[in-house]
Amino acid sequence: MKRIAFMFFVCTVACSLAVGGVSAKEASKESHGEKLFMKHCSKCHPGGGNVVTVTKSLNPQDRAANNIKTEDDIIRLMRNPGPGMVKFGKKTISEKDAKAIAEYITKTFK
Ligand code: HEC
Repeated sequence: MKRIAFMFFVCTVACSLAVGGVSAKEASKESHGEKLFMKHCSKCHPGGGNVVTVTKSLNPQDRAANNIKTEDDIIRLMRNPGPGMVKFGKKTISEKDAKAIAEYITKTFK
């Protein structure tokens, strides 16, 4: 009986380590998007706002009003922005990084 309890203990520890590993990986992916956002976007969009054109924040309501609903829409806008926003080509922000930023925006600003 003791042996079974021990096996159960080992299993629990191993499983929680495995789960912990996955969530740590998720977190680092998120902070990658966050880091890129802080570097490229936050001076005009601090906290998801918009210091240049206040009505065009990164909140879902404002984005929806301007027809920027999906992550792809956000990426498209980075490549081809409206007046007052700098253009981010693929040399500045790769497709993968653009996706990480778009994910960060849709997950963070509500
Ligand atoms: C130099 C300032 C500036 C920087 C840097 C900047 N933006 Fe913008 N952003 C703006 C302005 C100004 C607008 C509104 C443009 C318009 O009138 O269409 C805007 C609009 C947007 C919108 C549309 C919001 C809406 O509600 O319509 C998104 C999404 C966006 N920016 C994402 C980004 C991302 C992602 C980055 C970084 C990669 C970034 N911006 C960097 C100034 C900036």
